[in-house]
Amino acid sequence: MDLTSDQDKVFVQDIREGQNVDSPFLLEEIKLGQTKNGRPYVSLKLKDRTGRIEARVWDQAENFYENFKDGDIAQITGSGESYQGQVQLKIIQAKQPEKPDNLDQGLFQPASPFNPEEMYTELLEFIDGIGDPHLKGLLLDIFSDQDIAAKFKKAPAAKRFHHAYLSGLLEHTLSVVRAASFTARLYPRLNQDLLLAGAMIHDLGKINEFELDKNGDYTTEGRLLGHMMLGLEIVQAKIGEQPDFPADLARILKHLIISHHGEYEFGSPKKPKILEALVLYYLDEMDAKINGIGGFIERHAVEDTGWTDYNRLMDRFFYRPDLEELLEASDISEDEREESSNSRRRPERDPNQMSFLEDD
Ligand SMILES: [Fe+2]
Ligand SMILES: [Fe+2]
Repeated sequence: MDLTSDQDKVFVQDIREGQNVDSPFLLEEIKLGQTKNGRPYVSLKLKDRTGRIEARVWDQAENFYENFKDGDIAQITGSGESYQGQVQLKIIQAKQPEKPDNLDQGLFQPASPFNPEEMYTELLEFIDGIGDPHLKGLLLDIFSDQDIAAKFKKAPAAKRFHHAYLSGLLEHTLSVVRAASFTARLYPRLNQDLLLAGAMIHDLGKINEFELDKNGDYTTEGRLLGHMMLGLEIVQAKIGEQPDFPADLARILKHLIISHHGEYEFGSPKKPKILEALVLYYLDEMDAKINGIGGFIERHAVEDTGWTDYNRLMDRFFYRPDLEELLEASDISEDEREESSNSRRRPERDPNQMSFLEDD
């Protein structure tokens, strides 16, 4: 089996009752159970980038249980069945994939909608625009390191709340860098080079915080040290390789990393003590929230109410008014709206760079 394209894959979101399925899936939460009659069965979840579906193995359940573990990818043959109003898959046969290395991880894990190579190129262009030779040299050294680059293009930014998908770290970092570049131009008292450098490296430790080849779980060092300490280690080592890197600048850079969560209760060992560190915290927080809450609102809309399910992390329900409808309801035509906004003499804006600031 040589699966490199979407065409050969049956996706979880498309499985219906009565449908025969023959496709690879990632296995999760494999448990061996017993029916009331004492017959063994296996319950598990099948996962791909479109979601998860419950599955059961009724025949040779113990055999299945011995051969597969959580995080494995298996070629699954089965059929969709309805159980308590939900579709689940009855597994008839499960095989190890013939060429597991040829399987495209992007089929099983959700991934950023943006191309990682293009994002990385844009990140390198921002480094090119940095004026300070020490910062520029250090950033080039970090981001042209093959090992770092490969991990940075792949890592998620988080396990759950925001950018929790392949290349999410790169998407989030680039977003914060763009916002930093724009913000530094808005507020000339900010040092653009320092803010950009902080934006680029603030979450660097995340390349070692998650298992990138398995199902994206935390690594042991991720659990024990966290991404700020892990990032600090990488940056410290790279600074050591630079000729004459100013000690003061090194301290400030490290401060940007370890203060970027802003408050002690958000896991920051130090609160931001220079203006660029404070701004980095706000931009990071803003980007994470726009992605996390925006995604939540899309996925958890309760039909016909305009409201979402309850969001535990943010301790509230979110409301999404139909803004298109509301705006159309006003009598202003598109042309008039354009005219009235021009008459307010707004500066020319690049929509890609503005969007981060529009939500508030
Ligand atoms: Fe962070
Ligand atoms: Fe971040």
